Amino acid sequence: MSTHFDTLAALDAAYHLPTYARKPVLFVRGEGMRLYDDEGREYLDFVGGIGSVNLGHAHPAVADAVCAQMRTLVQVTNLYHTENRALLAERLSELAGGEPWKAFFCNSGTEAIEGVIKLARKWGKVRRGEECIEIITAERSFHGRTMAALSATGQPSKQDAFAPLLPGFVHVPLNDIAALEAAITGRTCAVLLEPVQGEGGVYPCEEAYLEAARQLCDERDVLLAFDEVQTGFFRTGPAFAWQGYGVRPDVMALAKSLANGLPAGAVLATGSAAETFAPGDHGSTFGGGPVIAAAALATIEALESEGLGANAQATGAALTAALTALAADTGAIAEVRGRGLMVAAELAEPVAQVIAARCLERGVVINAIGERVLRFLSPLVCSPAEAAILVDTLRAVLGAA
Ligand SMILES: Cc1ncc(COP(=O)(O)O)c(C=O)c1O
Repeated sequence: MSTHFDTLAALDAAYHLPTYARKPVLFVRGEGMRLYDDEGREYLDFVGGIGSVNLGHAHPAVADAVCAQMRTLVQVTNLYHTENRALLAERLSELAGGEPWKAFFCNSGTEAIEGVIKLARKWGKVRRGEECIEIITAERSFHGRTMAALSATGQPSKQDAFAPLLPGFVHVPLNDIAALEAAITGRTCAVLLEPVQGEGGVYPCEEAYLEAARQLCDERDVLLAFDEVQTGFFRTGPAFAWQGYGVRPDVMALAKSLANGLPAGAVLATGSAAETFAPGDHGSTFGGGPVIAAAALATIEALESEGLGANAQATGAALTAALTALAADTGAIAEVRGRGLMVAAELAEPVAQVIAARCLERGVVINAIGERVLRFLSPLVCSPAEAAILVDTLRAVLGAA
């Protein structure tokens, strides 16, 4: 480690609330799939800002759009019309397709979920009465860290220290249609699901489950909301994961790669859900601001023109196949899960943190969830050859471990 690294790590220890156990590396530059540390060492990045740089690091089109907008107009608040926000809302509606979608812009995934929760509660109250405020989410889900999003999250380990949580959330086991059906009552205003659970360990919803959720929501007059914060922007192939399932929600939460690494979030709503909010119901000082919206427009344009959804599917399939072969060869991997370039390897032994640390030493950046799950969320520019380097590294490291 360099002296510079030591100095900065000491500052982190002295002056940060310790909400993160940071790894022993100082990244100073990125380009595409690659990160570089303060000593010029190159890394292949399979964390991708935890799925927030789908275009790859330091994409020139986003950098140019941001720089130009910074010199033109940075901020005027949402009380006035601005060009990029209007164009971005239209672009997102086109990406989602079908009946028009209406957007509310915010700054993060957890804020997008707060917006979904407020929208669903108001929708339920107006449509079916004061009691209709309950939201059903999945066990093991992750929806964010602010109090309402944390209450929606289905992970007691992240929640217990901060109780009492917000009332009005019911958690059901994922992919259990009967449990979902039984949980929907006259008090239910929405069902909120990640099409592929991310933070919980990369568990895809089954197609029949999402189809049943859509049907149940239609029959019982309940909103179907998808948290596409991690799955969105071509991560699983299509622009939004639900398009791959063919199950259209009424509301969705977006963030992460919306502006390729700059803080951005959005709620998109369609149909009656889009008629819920009135002026004054919700707001954000910075959401959809000119610079972020410029970054988002450039991001979406490049994701499409570079064909990165198709690449996510092709490289994701190659990665999944190679991990499956590695599992068969070594016995060290109990299960490979995922869709597109949202992939996890569940280890047979509780050594995920050690494996991630060893990969980092070898210049391969991966994320460990708990003690058993390795998660791979590379930028969507990842080539099959780069995915093969990851698998070769894992083979060496798992063998040594
Ligand atoms: C599915 C999902 N929802 C919400 C969030 C919260 O997003 P943010 O960290 O931008 O608040 C995350 C973050 O990982 C996520 O994966």
